[in-house]
Amino acid sequence: MSALVIDALTVAFGRFRALDALSLAVDPGEVRAVIGPNGAGKTTLLDVISGITKPVSGRVMLGDRLDLTRCSEAQIARAGVRRKFQKPSVFPVLTVRENLAIGCGPDMAPGAREARIAAVLGEVGLAVRAAVPAGALSHGEKQWLEIGMVLAAEPGLLLLDEPVAGLSDAETARTAELIGRLRRPDRAILVIEHDMGFVEAVADKVTVLHEGRTLYEGGMQGARRDARVIEVFLGR
Ligand SMILES: Nc1ncnc2c1ncn2[C@@H]1O[C@H](COP(=O)(O)OP(=O)(O)OP(=O)(O)O)[C@@H](O)[C@H]1O
Ligand SMILES: [Mg+2]
Repeated sequence: MSALVIDALTVAFGRFRALDALSLAVDPGEVRAVIGPNGAGKTTLLDVISGITKPVSGRVMLGDRLDLTRCSEAQIARAGVRRKFQKPSVFPVLTVRENLAIGCGPDMAPGAREARIAAVLGEVGLAVRAAVPAGALSHGEKQWLEIGMVLAAEPGLLLLDEPVAGLSDAETARTAELIGRLRRPDRAILVIEHDMGFVEAVADKVTVLHEGRTLYEGGMQGARRDARVIEVFLGR
C-alpha cells in the first residue's frame, strides 16, 4: 500500500489549470522530490495535500482510508501531515527550545514534550543553540529549526518546500544529511527543490511536473537524460 496517492487531481484558478489530472503515488519510507520549472504546480500540489487549496476533482489518499481533499487543514495535521513552508516561519523572540515546544502541539504531555524536544534538538543539530532566540540564528539554522518544528509531532508525511533555498553549499550538504536521517519506514517525505545536486543526494525518485502534469517519473539519473525534461527544464 502507498503512503500517499494523488489520483487525477485537477486544480483550477479561473480557467487556468494549475494541476491537470495529476496522479502519483509515494511509498512508505520513500523520499520523493517534485521538481520542474517555475509555475509547474509544485507548491499548488503541497497546498492541496495540506488542505489550503481544494481541487475541482480528484483525490488525495493518505494510506488507504483518508481522502485529504475532504478534510480540514486541522484534520490533515492531526492525521500526521506536516509542512515546512518555503520562507522560514520561526518565532524570532522565542528560543529554539520554545519554538520546538510549539511544534510539539498542545496535546503532548509535558514529560513527553521535554523528551521529544531533546530528541529533535539532536536530530537537527541545534542542541548547543537550544537557549538562543530563533531570531539570532543564521538562515541555515532557521531552516533546520523549522524542519525540527515539523518533526516534533512525528509526522508520517513530511512536506518540504524548497528547504535549501538561500543556503550555502556546506549548509545544503548538511541539510541533505539531515533528510537522510529523517528517513523511516513509516514516514514518507515529499520535497520540492530547485537544487538538482541536493535532489540527487536525497531523493529515491523524482517527479518532474510541467504545466500541472507529470513529464517524467523515475530516478534523477534518468531525468537528466530525458529529452523532454532537458527541453522544458534542465536544459534551460
Ligand atoms: N491563488 C492563485 N490564483 C491564481 N493563480 C495561481 C494561484 N496560485 C498559483 N497560481 C498559478 O498556478 C501556477 C502554479 O503555481 P505554483 O505556485 O504551484 O508553481 P510552482 O511550481 O510552485 O513554481 P515555483 O517553482 O516558482 O515555486 C502558476 O502559474 C501560478 O501563477
Ligand atoms: Mg513553488
